[in-house]
Amino acid sequence: MCGIIGYTGKKQVKPIIIDALTTLEYRGYDSAGMAVCNAKEKRTDVYKCAGRVRDLSKKCEFKDINSTCGIGHTRWATHGGVCDANAHPHTSGSVTVVHNGIIENYKDLVEEFDLSGSLRSETDTEVAAAILNHYYQKTKDPKKAVKSAVKRLKGTFALVILFADIPDVIYSIRNVSPIVATLSDEGAMLASDLTALCQFTDRYFVVPEYTIVELRKDAVSMWSLEDNEIIPEYLTMNWEKNSAEKNGYPFYMEKEIMEQPKAIRDTVFGRTKGGIPNFKADGVPDELFTQCERICVVACGTAMHAGLVFQALVKNRLHMHIDVELASEFMYSDPVIDDKTLVIAVSQSGETIDTLEALKYARRKGAKSLAIINVRGSSIARESDYVMYTNAGPEIAVASTKAYTTQLTLFYLIVCKMAYLRGVMNDDEVRDCIRSLKRVPEVINNLLDERNAIHVIARGIINAKDLFMIGRGLDYSILMEGSLKLKEVSYIHSEAYASGELKHGPIALITENTPVVALVTQERIMSKELSNIREVKSRGAAIALFIKADLIQQSTREFDTFVLPNLPDELMVFPASVALQLLAYYVSSDKGFDVDKPRNLAKVVTVE
Ligand code: M6R
Repeated sequence: MCGIIGYTGKKQVKPIIIDALTTLEYRGYDSAGMAVCNAKEKRTDVYKCAGRVRDLSKKCEFKDINSTCGIGHTRWATHGGVCDANAHPHTSGSVTVVHNGIIENYKDLVEEFDLSGSLRSETDTEVAAAILNHYYQKTKDPKKAVKSAVKRLKGTFALVILFADIPDVIYSIRNVSPIVATLSDEGAMLASDLTALCQFTDRYFVVPEYTIVELRKDAVSMWSLEDNEIIPEYLTMNWEKNSAEKNGYPFYMEKEIMEQPKAIRDTVFGRTKGGIPNFKADGVPDELFTQCERICVVACGTAMHAGLVFQALVKNRLHMHIDVELASEFMYSDPVIDDKTLVIAVSQSGETIDTLEALKYARRKGAKSLAIINVRGSSIARESDYVMYTNAGPEIAVASTKAYTTQLTLFYLIVCKMAYLRGVMNDDEVRDCIRSLKRVPEVINNLLDERNAIHVIARGIINAKDLFMIGRGLDYSILMEGSLKLKEVSYIHSEAYASGELKHGPIALITENTPVVALVTQERIMSKELSNIREVKSRGAAIALFIKADLIQQSTREFDTFVLPNLPDELMVFPASVALQLLAYYVSSDKGFDVDKPRNLAKVVTVE
């Protein structure tokens, strides 16, 4: 969703803003804009348009922009359509603002401050700018104005503000929507997420909620609303410098699929001792896993699908009660949560508002919490009692790939740890599992070497309008993610079905040449799965079978087949998921789609 950048320093600001907005494109947006300080004339100049960052860049190509301070924004429309007027920044009097989030009471504020005749856009943001300007004209004090204005705003916001008569200084304040900032020899910077900062620095801090931050060329200061000074708590990014670049790949999605062996290895690294999972470096105490009576996973989309795999493993290995809840439904489903519940919030970005709110709700009910997160210092990470980070590096493509397999990696480690602590598995059994887990990167590498065969299968489904994915048990959980992947990047309507359910309805949709992707990786249910596959085949379906090498038999040779390299059944989720990611990727890229930025989707979903 919307992206924010702000810079004040020694360098010309225009290229910095354009570069950062280009980096932030992955979040999903429909308009772009920037505002720069004209220090000489005590003016703020605004350039904005509906469309892409390159349109904005063109728009200011021949403008004589000589400024070392400015703010930029990519907008994902919420209030008001996609047009130049609704793009950010918005100006009211001396105040110019970019904003992420939603001001819920903006209509009330329009009435109360009698703004209806003066607004030039349909956005809630312009109302926030007007309120800020109202208080600024009264006080002529930026901090007082920010303080008074935010007290009137309801909702989530990250506001970044320029005052025309205070050149080269940027102010910001936030509630829920994130802002990270840094100070270096080159100047001070802030952004809505780390990917925009990681080209410049590996040190950053998260601006605390309801804290006024002031960026000057050579200083960053923060104050609470009570005017107490707040010292930034700097964190170090563990992302490599060019890790947010494409490095020769046509799309981030392909790059990120290819990075999975390393990402998984990095996620396991440092988390075992003597072959047994060890979370000392994460600061996660054993009691977290021994004192809980039930587990509840809250997450959205792909992260929720990782939770479904975890659920199957927990039931199978630990025989424990576990629920996996869509975070967006969680609070409204009267969940059974108490102080014996371990809530695990899973999120790549750590900013998904539904997951954040679900976590807060569970904590209010007394649950202990663990977050599985990719972005350090993100809101969900800070809200949770404990955090375990996936070491996937920056994930830029909207379609999640390496975040998912690294979430699975942590889940697998957690299951082994819990089984060990709860006496369900002995040392040797756990060591055996961890040895197998450590083989996953190499097995994925082998699969990646065979990816052309998946490209051939992708060509066979490229013109499909509807497609079904069928499997049982763990295979079904894997297919739910595979199906989401195909939907979001190829726009093919795809449904994952537990294959035993087919004859209770969906099989009515199978006609001559309906494409069906079947997954067979679990020996104990294989014969039933094969019967279900034959049922759809005999009704004309065109089957693409993804099957574990060891499970191939004479009778499976009748299908178009991709052979998945062997691992123990419960780890087959790794090669199977990577194969399905590649399938979705090839369909999308062969169709000529913008694989990394599927229509209507945003990488970071910060609205409920
Ligand atoms: O950042 P999060 O992991 O919390 O994001 C959750 C979902 O929005 C995300 O997984 C989404 O489903 C992806 N686009 C799937 O590829």
